[in-house]
Amino acid sequence: MAEQKATNVHWHDGEVTRADRNKLLSQKGATVWFTGLSGSGKSTVAVALETELAKRGKLAYRLDGDNVRLGINKNLGFSAEDRTENIRRIGEISKLFVDAGVIVLSSFVSPYRADRDLVRKLHVDGGMDFIEVYVDVPLAEAEKRDPKGLYKKARAGEIKNFTGISDPYEAPETPELVLNTHELTLQQEVDALLALLEARGLLSGE
Ligand code: ADX
Repeated sequence: MAEQKATNVHWHDGEVTRADRNKLLSQKGATVWFTGLSGSGKSTVAVALETELAKRGKLAYRLDGDNVRLGINKNLGFSAEDRTENIRRIGEISKLFVDAGVIVLSSFVSPYRADRDLVRKLHVDGGMDFIEVYVDVPLAEAEKRDPKGLYKKARAGEIKNFTGISDPYEAPETPELVLNTHELTLQQEVDALLALLEARGLLSGE
């Protein structure tokens, strides 16, 4: 848990509440957190879900490992400590978007259970929905896909601490949803996610 450095700081509420914003947007803000190996299909399914939600008039926003590491988290690498800080910051950013009323689609390898549990706690303590989705493929399948050529480099020793090869991945024990992307079609995955959002009442603002 990151240390609180600033003292004498307090959260200030405005006059427009989260419930008001949800009503304005006819949806409820929530975080859908995709975790899984590099190349498992996290970003692909998040992109497809975002498109489908937009078609239904629902506002989603994607936060993605590579993108975030080019900006706010450009000062972080892939040591265990940096990954933890990466996930903590994304967790806080996700929470802000949820407070704004947005359906956040966060796709990060997020290999450590404790880091993901911390993000879950941040949400639950704030009265927000957190939906953990395990994008599950066998390592051999992710390695076969190797969309960015990173597994090849990791096997050749050109990338150190590569998740699944020379760094651990701790699979979720009780995720809200498991997507076996080597067995399901993209449409089946999106349908399962939409059904889950619907069942939780997130696609209506009331
Ligand atoms: S996390 O572990 O801190 O959650 P994050 O999702 O932000 O990782 O970034 C992972 C992406 O960075 C991968 O999809 C891959 O493209 C790239 N990457 C580069 N080096 C590594 C590495 N050592 N381990 C895992 N992914 C890496």
